[in-house]
Amino acid sequence: KNIVVLVSGGGTNLQRIIDCIESGEILNAHISSVIADRECFGLERAKKHGIATQLIPRGKTFSSELKTVIPGDTDLIVLAGFLSILNKEFCESFQGKIINIHPALLPKFGGKGMWGNHVHDAVLEANENESGATVHYVTSGIDEGEIIVQRSFPIGENETVETLAQKIHDTEFEIYPKAINLVLNKN
Ligand code: GRF
Repeated sequence: KNIVVLVSGGGTNLQRIIDCIESGEILNAHISSVIADRECFGLERAKKHGIATQLIPRGKTFSSELKTVIPGDTDLIVLAGFLSILNKEFCESFQGKIINIHPALLPKFGGKGMWGNHVHDAVLEANENESGATVHYVTSGIDEGEIIVQRSFPIGENETVETLAQKIHDTEFEIYPKAINLVLNKN
């Protein structure tokens, strides 16, 4: 199965996916390209593994440009720390074939502006007793698509944005490969 991964940042989730494909923890998968909407370390990680990369600068025409470069044989588009919003037309033309990972327990703490440390701040501010990560299908409603896998953990007494971010990344590294396996090998 052919995967395209979209990134905007450091790409640790991308790295985990690459490693799991190489080790066989993710089955029947091949990353045909990694596409970014800005210069970022995720692109370097891909290049290091001989994966084709492309940079489409973020902006109004991003989604339509992206659509023209997604190979026709793509089975799954994986958003891994990808910060642009894909437009309705793009989401509808790849319906059921785009997944995202979100650093909180959706449907709580999702939507516009809820990314990176903003999410952890909001979770701590709200005095939640748990947080976690969610893998979901991407639809045109931000963070609203069907949930594929979610995992939670308790928030500690002295939790900070930094400790929370670390726990969430560790959780993401567990559940993203699982979710990709589920989606790719469900038929
Ligand atoms: C992750 O926490 C993910 O939930 C969010 O962006 C972060 C990406 O981190 N969407 P990385 O680029 O994979 O290191």
